[in-house]
Amino acid sequence: MILVTGGAGFIGSNFILDWIAATGEAVVNLDKLTYAGNLENLANLKDDPRHIFVQGDINDRVLVAKLLSQHQPRAIIHFAAESHVDRSIHGPGEFIQTNINGTFSLLEEVRAYWQELQAEEKAAFRFLHVSTDEVYGSLGANDPPFTETTAYAPNSPYSASKAASDHLVRAYHHTYGLPTLTTNCSNNYGAFQFPEKLIPLIILNALNGKPLPIYGDGMNVRDWLYVGDHCAAIRAVLAGGRLGETYNIGGWNEKTNLDVVNTVCAILDELKPAANSKPYASLITYVKDRPGHDRRYAIDARKIERELGWKPLETFETGIRKTVAWYLDNMGWVENIVSGEYQQWMKANYQNREKA
Ligand code: NAD
Ligand code: DAU
Repeated sequence: MILVTGGAGFIGSNFILDWIAATGEAVVNLDKLTYAGNLENLANLKDDPRHIFVQGDINDRVLVAKLLSQHQPRAIIHFAAESHVDRSIHGPGEFIQTNINGTFSLLEEVRAYWQELQAEEKAAFRFLHVSTDEVYGSLGANDPPFTETTAYAPNSPYSASKAASDHLVRAYHHTYGLPTLTTNCSNNYGAFQFPEKLIPLIILNALNGKPLPIYGDGMNVRDWLYVGDHCAAIRAVLAGGRLGETYNIGGWNEKTNLDVVNTVCAILDELKPAANSKPYASLITYVKDRPGHDRRYAIDARKIERELGWKPLETFETGIRKTVAWYLDNMGWVENIVSGEYQQWMKANYQNREKA
């Protein structure tokens, strides 16, 4: 079996559903269930013995040691993190605690476990660390996309904490020989994404007739990757990635935020027109920019394509249509989220962002 951290979050839950469907191999899912963790994402695996859920913190070394010794996983896929840039600006402490200290604690316990494995299991073991393209910093309009050798230049507390965790993983490979793999991927979108991130937030606000907040001039560029393609890429890296290497994963879908928001609005106009018949794009509102807002991310994914034969299957046009349709079909999932804590966050992040 494998052990997944953060498997109740957006990408982790998509990964577990995809993994069990694709391989049938059992998963131990260690997740703290922060505001971003949601067991409803895994409702389809309720009563499935191949999914063993454990609520807990990756900083809890006693618990991690117990899970490793009890389940003897052949691999760890490490998703658990604080993942939202805006929250890292409001309060970086949790990002240091989970993304840096948590990764360190996990690495220490995994190293102790791995060192005691028999030769064959030891050689076959893998620690796959899921990271982000944000560690590379911001690109200018004409810069080439990030490659695996682009220098690290993180600009937010979130990306700095992820960069630190990447360095720890790298060091555990070079110093202790731990069989690690690191993936750095671009912006994911798809089912089960928490509605604090751009795409689900826009869908939700539009359906509720609320302003669609665009930070700054809306011309920041992200490289969008459908979450199902990301899950397939992680399986490919786990199966065939070279030890100690990093693999960039991206969708070859560079879009400005304004393009993304207009596309979402146009699909909503078609699938669920507003009661007042106005186009949803009329709700677009420019607001104060995110401090330190990275201008452009773009991933050069040729290494994983060349070495492991992975390629994204979705274009942005196909993936975004599926995503909007999923939210429309799953409003119950959304409604269960957008109570208490979510409302507080929306206030904290948006109420002092006067119209730009
Ligand atoms: P998410 O915020 O949706 O989910 C994170 C999960 O980790 C939640 O289930 C949460 O409960 C859990 N968690 C948080 N702290 C924990 C702790 N201390 N111990 C155990 N569990 C804990 O995040 P996501 O968008 O699914 O991202 C998953 C990973 O992928 C993260 O490492 C993130 O940095 C990386 N990543 C995300 C994106 C993206 O676009 N979402 C892109 C690149 C990389
Ligand atoms: O690039 C990978 C990263 O993508 C991941 O490492 C992060 O975990 C993930 O959250 C995401 O980070 P971003 O900051 O790019 O995602 P977010 O959805 O928060 O914002 C996308 C873009 O949209 C960004 O340029 C900011 C802008 N934005 C966001 C929000 C929430 C707005 O204009 N308005 C908004 O209300």
